[in-house]
Amino acid sequence: MYKIVQREVLVPNIVHVKIEAPEIARKVKPGHFVILRVDETGERFPMSLADWDENEGTIDIAFYILGKSTRKLASLREGDYIMNVVGPLGKATEIELYGNVLCACGCFGCGPTIPLARALREKGNRIISIMEARSRAFLFWQEKLEDVSDELHITIGDGSYGRKQWTNDFIGEYLKGGNKVDRIFAHGCPFMMMECSEASKPFGVKTMVSLTSIMVDGTGMCGCCRVSVGGETRFSCVDGPEFDGHEIDWELLINRQRTYLDEEMRSSDLWERENWHKMVEYSRA
Ligand SMILES: Cc1cc2nc3c(=O)[nH]c(=O)nc-3n(C[C@H](O)[C@H](O)[C@H](O)COP(=O)(O)OP(=O)(O)OC[C@H]3O[C@@H](n4cnc5c(N)ncnc54)[C@H](O)[C@@H]3O)c2cc1C
Ligand code: FES
Repeated sequence: MYKIVQREVLVPNIVHVKIEAPEIARKVKPGHFVILRVDETGERFPMSLADWDENEGTIDIAFYILGKSTRKLASLREGDYIMNVVGPLGKATEIELYGNVLCACGCFGCGPTIPLARALREKGNRIISIMEARSRAFLFWQEKLEDVSDELHITIGDGSYGRKQWTNDFIGEYLKGGNKVDRIFAHGCPFMMMECSEASKPFGVKTMVSLTSIMVDGTGMCGCCRVSVGGETRFSCVDGPEFDGHEIDWELLINRQRTYLDEEMRSSDLWERENWHKMVEYSRA
């Protein structure tokens, strides 16, 4: 059992939990993920790590409340326990000296970008970070990202703050302006990562994306997380989750992510009927 030692609502629908998991905190590196199971009837679902503290023995997760499992997780409080947390899983990011590195993030992807940018900067890279949000009300942890970046740019879809654009617009303009970028990392929803990859492709700047394909075991056994990269079948959980965004078959990925929509909606609705009181409470700080 894994204790939640801190829990906060970051912005509407995005929650941060700090979990006691000393074994994982000792081994984790940027790029890794964990698989959680909230309780004994729960399903397995993956989450990236937004940070960790080896000395305290804790890991941090920032998650978007979408369906049944994330609603269940959001309904837990400080002092509650998560039944299983397995990890670290996946391949760690290759932290090399690239030069100028652009880190683009949006939504829950802003979490894992922070330890990634920190590690890349410690390696000697110059970090240009771009954070996107639909509107100002959905921006979180910009100070944390600023602390580990040489430049931070904020792009806001509705123009309520920063630049009225998305991360992919920024990448296109930045590269068109002749700025030298040696590597791009993008974390967020598949659509955002696809758009960032398309923006950088004409300039030939390698763009690594962290895929969120559906996972069950997370160890290469079930085949659920199958993706096509450069025309070859790869398993996100063991060969990734990071891949070259210019080589992903995005249509296949996005279609596969929608495979179980009907079942997911039904399951979420049934849970909501019995747990409406938890839903009222989980949006409170
Ligand atoms: C490596 C990896 C890291 C991730 N990191 C984060 C993170 O840091 N924060 C965050 O908010 N989300 C993250 N996700 C996505 C997260 O796993 C899904 O949002 C979550 O499983 C949804 O479950 P649900 O029951 O709440 O929603 P559901 O209603 O069951 O599903 C909603 C949608 O989420 C996706 N999904 C459902 N089950 C899974 C699954 N087992 N594996 C992957 N995707 C699924 C599907 O596209 C589905 O349509 C990550 C996914 C992967 C693969
Ligand atoms: S999650 Fe089962 S093979 Fe990747």
